[in-house]
Amino acid sequence: RPPALIDRYGRRVSYLRVSVTDRCDLRCAYCLPQGFHGYQEPAHWLTFDELTRLVGAFVRLGVGRVRLTGGEPLLRRDLPRLAQRLKALPGLADLSLSTNGTQLDRHAHALKQAGVDRINVSLDSLDRACVTDITGRDTLAAVMAGLGAARAAGLSPIKLNMVALQGVNDHEIERMAEFCFAHGFILRLIETMPMGHTGRDARHLDLAPVRERLVARFGLEPEALELGGGPARYWRTADGDGRIGFITPISQHFCASCNRVRLAVDGTLYLCLGQEDKFEFRPLLRGGASDAELADAIHHALQRKPERHEFREAPDRIVRFMSQTGG
Ligand code: GTP
Ligand code: 5AD
Ligand code: SF4
Repeated sequence: RPPALIDRYGRRVSYLRVSVTDRCDLRCAYCLPQGFHGYQEPAHWLTFDELTRLVGAFVRLGVGRVRLTGGEPLLRRDLPRLAQRLKALPGLADLSLSTNGTQLDRHAHALKQAGVDRINVSLDSLDRACVTDITGRDTLAAVMAGLGAARAAGLSPIKLNMVALQGVNDHEIERMAEFCFAHGFILRLIETMPMGHTGRDARHLDLAPVRERLVARFGLEPEALELGGGPARYWRTADGDGRIGFITPISQHFCASCNRVRLAVDGTLYLCLGQEDKFEFRPLLRGGASDAELADAIHHALQRKPERHEFREAPDRIVRFMSQTGG
């Protein structure tokens, strides 16, 4: 077996996030400016053959979890076909998807059939006007239908991602928790990261006091189980049925235990969400590189992984938008 992927700081990389398109049908306040159209050229999109080959190379090096993201991944035509090919890679234990949910109703069944194990769905509010305000479109009903379809299709668990925005949806957190407890969704509260300049109001909310508030209100206890491959830290209700995850890149970052890297649709591997360090795989894939050369390149790229993000120290550093690397 080839040597596993260990970076300069001794962290083992076992989780690859793959952005299958940088396009999105929404313009969330914390993610993309209104009217944005600066998308990647289709000629630069890795094909399903290229994606399967490259992801396969990572999986052979010990990556056991792959997450499909975007932009909005369900905008990539025939995505379930890609999912099916990835799921067939020996060694890939966990295939998941992060979606905004607007098209989930139509695709949930095919995704499950293709071998997608579980999904995370963005939903920042249960108030129709608030959702419209944050995302730029009246999408609440479509997302609700998508959640129903995902559950009916057997995708499990389903996590709801709520980006906490000061003065926008912070008053809805308890209500969202109750909604998730009632429907069996795992709620995740997320601190906004400064990615690109969206020109919109997306004020960061420190989740430490929110967690204290929720722990008291719902009698939460720390969850011992690991619920996924990401950075969330979970708490659960005393009966064990309700769970809330906190993703706190700003107030309490988790870089020391980072296990992931990100592939953009054009074949750029980003070594950290909050840094510019990257490596281009498209020239290798289109230039006839052998499997051994690809594996070498992955090891080489990994040595560029930085120790941590600096969103706090340098909030203006990252000019690329979140939609390019999928969160
Ligand atoms: P699970 O496997 O279910 O734990 O998924 P996940 O939490 O890794 O994935 P998801 O796409 O749902 O991301 C949830 C939030 O976590 C998003 O806001 C991401 O931007 C954020 N996130 C995921 N990975 C990282 C990371 O490495 N660094 C930082 N700073 N944020 C991350
Ligand atoms: N900060 C934090 N989370 C973000 N997401 C998108 N942009 C940001 C940001 N600037 C979240 C979305 C989605 C997940 C994949 O990333 O809400 O649920
Ligand atoms: Fe890893 Fe960078 Fe995310 Fe920190 S910010 S957890 S180092 S990807």
